Amino acid sequence: MQTESEAQTRRVAIALADRLTPGTVLLLHGDLGAGKTAFVRGLAEALGFTDDPVSSPTFTLVHEYKGGRVPLYHADLYRLPDGGASLDDLGLDEVAQDGVLAIEWPERLARGVPGAIDVRIDIVSDTGRRITIEYR
Ligand SMILES: Nc1ncnc2c1ncn2[C@@H]1O[C@H](COP(=O)(O)OP(=O)(O)OP(=O)(O)O)[C@@H](O)[C@H]1O
Ligand SMILES: [Mg+2]
Repeated sequence: MQTESEAQTRRVAIALADRLTPGTVLLLHGDLGAGKTAFVRGLAEALGFTDDPVSSPTFTLVHEYKGGRVPLYHADLYRLPDGGASLDDLGLDEVAQDGVLAIEWPERLARGVPGAIDVRIDIVSDTGRRITIEYR
């Protein structure tokens, strides 16, 4: 599908969030500024984290949002070297079990995440984004 604003992208995330259960890993693919963090903001909104807005975790590896239907964990691996770590190394395998784990820059991971949902956001214009959601 294609969105034409950040708000629309958030709404796509909100629609997906309804169907997410603990143990789900979302791999968010897309270039710098594609809208991965915007997508996570939608997830946070939908899962009920109203008072703690998700900001881009540029300096913190994992942000944790509790208090909603399902805990949401948001990891941004941008600063890791390519293939530098696995979910276990990062301590993310455990959080992935009790909540929903959304990962920006999953290309940095040493290996794939079995059963994860791939969300790909492609920039098609200034405000246009093509969003593809793929279940493995
Ligand atoms: N259709 C759209 N969907 C999402 N974001 C959009 C859209 N159109 C424009 N934007 C803008 O694109 C930017 C997306 O920023 P965001 O931080 O979410 O990207 P990102 O993929 O997380 O980048 P990074 O890899 O740097 O973390 C925002 O400034 C947002 O307003
Ligand atoms: Mg981001």
